[in-house]
Amino acid sequence: MDHDQLIDLTRRALKLARDKTTDLAPAPHRVGAREYTSSERHARDRAMVMSSPQLVGYVSELPRPGAYCTKTVMGRSILLTRTSDGSVKAFDNVCLHRQAQVASGCGVAKRFTCPYHAWTYDNAGRLVAVPGREGFPETTLKSDHLTELPAAEFAGFLWIALDPGATLDVAAHLGPLADELDSWGIGRWSPLGEKVLDSPINWKLAIDTFAENYHFATVHEKTFATIARSNCTVFDAYGPHHRLIFPLNTILDLENVPEDQWIPFNNFVVIYALFPNIVISVTMANGELFRVYPSDRAGRSITVHQNSTPLDIADESVAAGAQAVFEYAHATVRDEDYRLVEKLQENLESGAREQLLFGRNEPGLQHRHIEWQRAVDSLR
Ligand code: FES
Ligand SMILES: [Fe+2]
Repeated sequence: MDHDQLIDLTRRALKLARDKTTDLAPAPHRVGAREYTSSERHARDRAMVMSSPQLVGYVSELPRPGAYCTKTVMGRSILLTRTSDGSVKAFDNVCLHRQAQVASGCGVAKRFTCPYHAWTYDNAGRLVAVPGREGFPETTLKSDHLTELPAAEFAGFLWIALDPGATLDVAAHLGPLADELDSWGIGRWSPLGEKVLDSPINWKLAIDTFAENYHFATVHEKTFATIARSNCTVFDAYGPHHRLIFPLNTILDLENVPEDQWIPFNNFVVIYALFPNIVISVTMANGELFRVYPSDRAGRSITVHQNSTPLDIADESVAAGAQAVFEYAHATVRDEDYRLVEKLQENLESGAREQLLFGRNEPGLQHRHIEWQRAVDSLR
């Protein structure tokens, strides 16, 4: 993001903080409890997520030719590789023999030898060795290649499509946000691993917890609210995506500082809501990524939480510090947000009340739900 834009956002955030208000939607909005509980809606949600481009990680997870990583997306195991020409490829991580996973974790490898019977693939997905070959005459091998999925690196992130026949157009998907996302560089920072939450909450309820800071003063009283303002958000929509600016308490100190001395990034957190299931949180020192997936039923979701850091984690103490920050953020989401909304999911499922209310002060929440509704309606 260029400096002028940062200063402009800081001005907007400072004005909201000074006026003790927030960006407001034109009117409150209501959604039905069944959107979080019905299996029919859940099936449509899954179809909507499956048909969207999937952001699956940082480009820095495949730092050089020969690198690979594995990802689980909507229950599917995916193998991503960077081949000798530097391009990124993705495959179903499913052996052509009896469907074992041919790779696990991440690292560097020219060949992947299936742990079951040692069929071996190169990093372009070609089957290059079959022990006991006479058991498998050529004609029985319908393919000699792992199923390849569309893959791309774009705006600093790794992307795939889950349908092998799909066209993956991430530039069209991100629109004007692409350059801005790329400009932070968080996709090129050092990755710090993945933490997974398998939670008894609908996937949209999980994402809702990232869509407003109205809850900070109560839910995060002793954590985030000690540094960040509550119920104070700069909101901008970009098609189906949006950006929130959450000001820190320090922003009011800028009142008496000339604008040319402002260091904008010291005073807010930037949250991107990418359609349909991605949350990215950017600060000076952390590039957090949340991939939230509908699971096997409406009341269950999988959240994969990643973080990246611009610090040099070759230094052990720096790496330990970065991991501690990641663990703190993860524990806050797990123990404060998700724990609270588990009870909310129970209430929704009880049928006690038909609707939820989103305030004018929750424009990000409204935007998420309006865009999801539009997308599932277009699936009909
Ligand atoms: S399942 Fe992979 S070699 Fe048998
Ligand atoms: Fe929260």
